[in-house]
Amino acid sequence: MDKAIGVFDSGIGGLTVLKEIINILPKENTIYLGDTARVPYGIKSSDTVIRYSLENAEFLSSKDIKLLVVACNTASAVGLPALRDKYNLPIIGVIEPGARKAIKVTKRKRVGVIGTERTIKSSAYVNSLKGIDPKIAVVSQACPLFVPLVEEGWTDNDIAFLTAKRYLHALKEANVDTLILGCTHYPLLKDVIGKVLGDEVLLVDSAEETAAEVVGVLRSSNLLKTSNKSAVHEFYVTDAPEKFVEAGIRFLQGTELKNVKKVSIA
Ligand code: DGL
Repeated sequence: MDKAIGVFDSGIGGLTVLKEIINILPKENTIYLGDTARVPYGIKSSDTVIRYSLENAEFLSSKDIKLLVVACNTASAVGLPALRDKYNLPIIGVIEPGARKAIKVTKRKRVGVIGTERTIKSSAYVNSLKGIDPKIAVVSQACPLFVPLVEEGWTDNDIAFLTAKRYLHALKEANVDTLILGCTHYPLLKDVIGKVLGDEVLLVDSAEETAAEVVGVLRSSNLLKTSNKSAVHEFYVTDAPEKFVEAGIRFLQGTELKNVKKVSIA
């Protein structure tokens, strides 16, 4: 089926998820919405994040998509039930896939989770991990300064390193063997996080697992693209496209950012 896969995020970070989807499903059409006018979601209340998520989904469903990916961890953490209630579409968030992967790879059942303030307060990752394996020990930490650091491109300097050292101290003390990067932006800090925690701690990036789940759902629902037309990737933002294109290149690493249009969705 040639309909597109719809993906939304609060801004540019969800491009890390889109990149994995395009890598694994290069023939599929995609439509990405970045709510750049209202980013960040991570410091807002659940009610606000739910309202924004519904408005984003409304915009994408008006484009006749076949599946919706909520690439934003914060929106996935608090908005999925409301979205699933309203839309009769397969909807995939990033929390469950990330949690499943962590359970698969942890050796000592000691898992750390980092994310925005709202994601951590929601306990979505803890509930998901414990729902799969009640014996798992989970230590969570909000890292609010990571998002602005990544947006600024400060991913490998001393400020990034010191910030990571401070945030990750408790997780290191707790001796976790696996860490879920529970925010769209954090995969870009993998090197710095790895330096602080050491090679023995496995870093789980929800993006790869989410893309694998997209394949599984499209296949089992018979929704994979059948025509051989080349893939079309559309991008919409709610604020100036120029900033999105400039910063987005760091997130997409390779795929060209073309066709970026500004829309009003509220
Ligand atoms: N996309 C958000 C997330 O994954 C991070 C940026 C924000 O706070 O909106 O949680």
